[in-house]
Amino acid sequence: MPPLPDATPVVVLVSGSGTNLQALIDACDDPAYGVRIVAVGADRPGIAGLERAEHAGIPTFVLSVGDFASRDAWDAALADQVAAHAPELVVLAGFMKLTGPAFLARFGGRTLNAHPALSPAFPGMHGPRDALEHGVKITGATLFVVDAGVDTGPIVAQVAVPVLDDDSVDTLHERIKTSERGMLVEWVGRLARDGYSIDGRRVTSPQKKEAP
Ligand code: GRF
Repeated sequence: MPPLPDATPVVVLVSGSGTNLQALIDACDDPAYGVRIVAVGADRPGIAGLERAEHAGIPTFVLSVGDFASRDAWDAALADQVAAHAPELVVLAGFMKLTGPAFLARFGGRTLNAHPALSPAFPGMHGPRDALEHGVKITGATLFVVDAGVDTGPIVAQVAVPVLDDDSVDTLHERIKTSERGMLVEWVGRLARDGYSIDGRRVTSPQKKEAP
């Protein structure tokens, strides 16, 4: 069934395989989920994430940093493209670029990102590798509201994942991603349906409506 007309419009940005995006697309099959993915954007062409969107009939756009005179010009164009779809929320689902000042001026406070580590530990591009090398026994994934830092924004939700003795970076990251997808689907839906507030670093969402 299609989402209800009052479902929250969401733009998702991707850079890679798009398994997090797929989990959101699948969740939207249930109208009670309360989310409509109105567009999927990417910073590079030819990725599986874009194919997943096209397969689901969702409009896509690509803005490569290299096609712009500067990083700021790319950031402003990204903000314009996202704004053209009038989302209430933006979800960075494996989007491997930092959004900049122009983007945050328009979408700050309503852009979510998932990071494959338990923030504030192991920010940056290599969360699973850094956790494994540090020898932690528990890592996980963090959903947060994007701010100007690298994986530093106010935390919406976290999920813990054990590190096993025989883990490689890949096996650990895959196990994290399984939990990350569940957290992302649960919380994007919850924030969309019930709203949320941010007080300093604390994000709260009253559970008003029944989850599907
Ligand atoms: C996720 O673990 C995300 O947190 C990280 O990159 C991965 C993206 O996976 N930034 P996918 O493209 O959704 O499959």
